[in-house]
Amino acid sequence: MVLIRILNSWHLSEAAVTPEAAFLDRRRFLKGAIATGIAASLMGCQRPTATDDTDPTAGSPLQATRNPRFDLDGGMLGDRPLTSERVAATYNNFYEYGSNKHIWRKAQALSIDPWKVEVGGMVAKPRSFDLDDLQQFPLEERIYRFRCVEAWAMVVPWLGFPMKALIDAVEPTSAAKFVRFTSYYDPKVTQGPAFPPSAYLPWPYVEGLRIEEMTNDLAFFAIGIYGHTLPKQHGAPIRMVVPWKYGFKGAKSIARIEFTDQQPETYWNTISPGEYKFEANVEPDVPHPRWSQATERLISAQDEFSWEKRPTLLYNGYGEAVADLYDRRAI
Ligand code: MTE
Repeated sequence: MVLIRILNSWHLSEAAVTPEAAFLDRRRFLKGAIATGIAASLMGCQRPTATDDTDPTAGSPLQATRNPRFDLDGGMLGDRPLTSERVAATYNNFYEYGSNKHIWRKAQALSIDPWKVEVGGMVAKPRSFDLDDLQQFPLEERIYRFRCVEAWAMVVPWLGFPMKALIDAVEPTSAAKFVRFTSYYDPKVTQGPAFPPSAYLPWPYVEGLRIEEMTNDLAFFAIGIYGHTLPKQHGAPIRMVVPWKYGFKGAKSIARIEFTDQQPETYWNTISPGEYKFEANVEPDVPHPRWSQATERLISAQDEFSWEKRPTLLYNGYGEAVADLYDRRAI
C-alpha cells in the first residue's frame, strides 16, 4: 500500500465572499413570504459576522492510498484543476445551518465525537459504526469532479472508502432495493435557515440511492478532504459522494443508513419534485425548470469569483463507469 503525504499546495488565501440565491422552490414554500416581501432576505442574510480566527480548513491528518484512476493526470479528470481548499471550505450548501453559501462558522456547532452511524433495515448484519470503525475501512484518496444542481462546479480530493465496502460489511438481503441515508438532525444544533422558517422544511435531510447505484465503484463515503478529516461544514464525520449526480444527492453528517424495498422520500424531492429528481444524474440536455444545465461555472483554483464557463459533461464525465445503470446509455 502506498501511503501518501498530502502537500499544502491547495492552501490559498481566503477570498472575500458573496452569497448566491438559494434554490428553494418558492412556489411551494415561499408563497406567503414573497407576498410580504421577505423573500429578499434569502440572499445573504446570514453572512457570518464573527471575526475569530477559526480555521475553516482544520482537520486531523488522515492517510490514504491515492487511487490513480481518480487522479488529476492520467485518471478520469485530466480536464480541470483542483479547487482551492479554502474556497471549497467556505462556499458550501448545508441547509441545517442556513440557506446561503457561508455557513461554515455556524456548522461548527455540530459535535462529532462521539458519533454513531446506525446501519440497518434489510441487512443480515445490522451494526453501528463509530469514528474508529469508520477509519478502519481501507482509505483511498479520490479526486472527483463535483457538480452542484445550481450549475457551479469544483474539483475536490476526497478521502474515504467505496460504499461497496459498507455493503459487504452489513450484507443486504435480496429484498433490499434502495438505501436511505439520513443526516444528523437536532433542532437545537441544526437550526436551519432563518428564512424560510426551518419548521417549514422537511427535516431531517434524507437522500437515497438504488442499491445498484450504491454498489457502483464510484459511489463513495468521504470521511476526509484535502488530506485530513472533514471540516464540519463539508459534512463531518461522514458524507456521501456520488460524483455523477448533482451535489444534493450527497447527504452530509450521516447518522443512519437503512436498506429498504421502497424508494425513500428525499429532502429536495419532497420540497420540489419537479426540480430535484430522485435520480438527479448530471445531464446537460435536461434543464432545471428555472435554468439551463448545458454549461457550468467551474470555480477556479483561486477563489469563488474566478470561474470558467465549461460545457456540462453527461454524468459529470463519469459515463464510462455508470452509463450501464441507466436506460440512457450514451457516454
Ligand atoms: N447534506 C445535508 N445534510 N444538508 C444539505 O443542505 N446540501 C447538498 C449536499 N449535501 C446538503 C447536503 C448540496 S445542495 C450540495 S451542492 C452539497 O452538499 C455541497 O457540499 P459541499 O458544501 O461540501 O461542497
